[in-house]
Amino acid sequence: MNTSVLLIDDDVDALQALCMGIDREFAVLKATSYKDAIQLLNTQEVDIVVTDLKLKDGSGLQILNHVHENLPHVSVIVITAYGTVETAIQSIRSGAYDYLVKPFRLADLKRLLYRLSETQNLRKENNRLRQALQLEKRNLQFVTVSNRMKRIYSLAQQIAESRSTVLISGETGTGKDILANLIHYSSPRYQQPFIKIDCASIPENLLEAELFGYEKGAFTGAAGQKRGKVEMAHMGTVFLDEIGELAPFMQSKLLRFLQDGEFERLGSTQTLTVDVRVLAATNADLEKKVKEGTFRSDLFYRLNVIAINMPPLREHTEDIPFLIQSFIEKYNAINNKQIQSVDPQVVKQAQRYPWPGNIRELENMVERAVVLSREPVLSLMHFPGLAVGSESAEGSIGATVGMSLMEIEKLAVEKNLIYYNYDKNRVAQVLQTGLATLYRKIKEYQIQDH
Ligand SMILES: Nc1ncnc2c1ncn2[C@@H]1O[C@H](COP(=O)(O)OP(=O)(O)O)[C@@H](O)[C@H]1O
Ligand SMILES: [Mg+2]
Repeated sequence: MNTSVLLIDDDVDALQALCMGIDREFAVLKATSYKDAIQLLNTQEVDIVVTDLKLKDGSGLQILNHVHENLPHVSVIVITAYGTVETAIQSIRSGAYDYLVKPFRLADLKRLLYRLSETQNLRKENNRLRQALQLEKRNLQFVTVSNRMKRIYSLAQQIAESRSTVLISGETGTGKDILANLIHYSSPRYQQPFIKIDCASIPENLLEAELFGYEKGAFTGAAGQKRGKVEMAHMGTVFLDEIGELAPFMQSKLLRFLQDGEFERLGSTQTLTVDVRVLAATNADLEKKVKEGTFRSDLFYRLNVIAINMPPLREHTEDIPFLIQSFIEKYNAINNKQIQSVDPQVVKQAQRYPWPGNIRELENMVERAVVLSREPVLSLMHFPGLAVGSESAEGSIGATVGMSLMEIEKLAVEKNLIYYNYDKNRVAQVLQTGLATLYRKIKEYQIQDH
């Protein structure tokens, strides 16, 4: 793995020269301003930062502080002009790895970079092993062979080290929870608490107390003081599930907390601060909610620093055989069974089925099949749900005598959309109608679209 180095200097020529000197050995990123540098740091994988102390719109010290707070695994080397060595020393005190005084030899910089890159590689290898162990301990397996999911997996590992807020979106059962776990247990906070709060399942009026805690007598029934979930998660990670369900007043409370890390327990005026990393998940389309005015746009942007979208299972069907095998093993162990494999016919049907409940639905089906089967190989008869689904996918739209034309039309649109993976061009073609008409019908019948 190539070590990635971010070079920061507002002198474009100097920057270019440095870049050319090291870009054979390292993956080099360049920034000519404080603003660009922060932008890159927040979006790209960086191992080492080499920054000039003086920048047009900020200073190398500010970069150092940013890195120190948000990306503690990144090492910083500062470059200083002759005469400002004092500042360089100050930067070492603030956590810089080393400094170079201009003019310096390229070989000096390279020597530092090599040494740091060795440390960084060891750290990465350590992280990988530690993470595998943590996930195994918790029985969390992320099974995938698809490129799209693999990219999500490596992105999750990469951002695990930062403090940035992550918004995970996707349909139910696509793996949002497992991904949040993965991020926490791959992060430097893995030994600290990981606390999940389901915003949809806690009644609106109790959510504030649940999140931020309360003092004795804050409301009827508050018999004693109680710490909130964010307090309990101090130094760790808070995972806010179903964030799209937050009531407006909780949205503003949360926004303040995300911006300043500050909050008060209910019934108290004392402001408390904690250090937590926030992960959020939603199966709703938050951008749409923002447009409709039911979700605050400032909160959305604050949450959406890093956005990960989990694809529905019907968009990575190549994973299905591997998921099935992994679930067979899981439920063999739990139920003390010895199922060996699955009939290829099942896999074939499963890859055609639309999986509205995604991986969770697949897992449930396999669990049921493993429990019920008396044979070592699971066959279609152990997957009744699949047979029904495939029947409609195979050709029937499920209309019956007595239905109105409109109901039948709705079914025709709906089932074809599912069957053709929401490829509207294709469906319009099959139904021999125009694309505009198809969209109108989708709207008219309030059919769920993707
Ligand atoms: N990539 C995967 N490999 C193996 N199991 C998975 C994977 N993604 C999800 N699962 C399993 O599917 C179920 C649903 O996943 P979950 O993360 O709870 O989905 P969501 O939070 O999006 O509803 C869980 O039991 C989880 O362990
Ligand atoms: Mg979930």
